[in-house]
Amino acid sequence: MRMKIALLPGDGIGPEVTREAVRVLRAVGDIYGHNFEFDEKLIGGAAIKQMNAPLPTASLDACLESDAVLLGAVGAPEHDHLPPDKRPEAGLLTLRRALGAYANLRPAISYQAVIDCSPLRAGVVAGADILFVRELLGGLYFGEPRGFIKDNGASAAFNTMRYSTEEIERIARVAFAAALVRRRKVTSVDKANVLETSQLWREVVGRVALDYKEVTLEHLYVDACAMHLVMNPRRFDVVLTENLFGDILSDEAAVITGSLGLLASASVGGEVGLYEPVHGSAPDIAGRGIANPLGAISSAALLLRHTAHLEQEAQDVETAIRTVLDAGYRTPDLDCGQSKYIASTTEMGALVAESIAEVADMRHAYHAV
Ligand code: IPM
Ligand code: MG
Repeated sequence: MRMKIALLPGDGIGPEVTREAVRVLRAVGDIYGHNFEFDEKLIGGAAIKQMNAPLPTASLDACLESDAVLLGAVGAPEHDHLPPDKRPEAGLLTLRRALGAYANLRPAISYQAVIDCSPLRAGVVAGADILFVRELLGGLYFGEPRGFIKDNGASAAFNTMRYSTEEIERIARVAFAAALVRRRKVTSVDKANVLETSQLWREVVGRVALDYKEVTLEHLYVDACAMHLVMNPRRFDVVLTENLFGDILSDEAAVITGSLGLLASASVGGEVGLYEPVHGSAPDIAGRGIANPLGAISSAALLLRHTAHLEQEAQDVETAIRTVLDAGYRTPDLDCGQSKYIASTTEMGALVAESIAEVADMRHAYHAV
């Protein structure tokens, strides 16, 4: 298989973790005989600095001409004073929209090896395995009109939460289809006791559910969902929700996993898939070689699964991550007791890359018996 991947390392720890994801993809290429070609471009604060735009045309064009996009992180404190449409984050939002990536998949899994990194009791998180399906192109993030105004001479600001039936329906179908090959349960999250958009959301999701009789649907208000996520995360299989609720709940889910540094995401539904870790640019630890690359590496695994349709390769990367964690290697964010060895960002990437060959060999040996 030949694939062209646009690389957008971005800001803060973005470049460090992306480098390790690329290392892992190259290892996959070598072992399984695939050819991944990378085209590196600017986004976010790095792009503002050099090109005066958070998503320069050259970057967007490269993404549109690629099979997939692998992104690090965007955001830098020096740009905090800029209006929303000039900030580094605007680059990412424009890119998501240009790619038509309306479905954001965010798995949150409790790994046995790092179970004590969660502030929740092991008995609560053990075995938790949730897939967040977050609508990514609607709601308050993109709703018009929006802006700053003067209201009787005083400053005011407003945003619009808007959803069409079609937008809700297409994301709901993604959630139900995902649930079919998991534990067949969808929890749809809204605020239907207050918001019109949520009332429409509930109605449309209920209608889509009729096409998926094998899947159980439950509705939860977002405030209750936030509570249940930490009380009893195992009750969830697929969580379906709108853009802003999904943003908030998926960060909360990091508590189940033990570190935001482990979480991966895939943004699909358009022509070109976008893959990025859930964590941000973490400027406080950037450049120190201590960032956790496993979220970025897991995002590369999602790229193999959803864009390349290389399911075996994706699983082998995920098994390699578990193997390295089981062996006791930890980046500092995962140092919670039983670490045998504290690994740097590069060491962690190299360990996973090396482990893939072993995982593949073991699978072959197993099949040969
Ligand atoms: C995320 C991030 C982004 C979002 C920011 C950086 C715009 O928080 O991917 O969750 O809010 O979607
Ligand atoms: Mg977020």
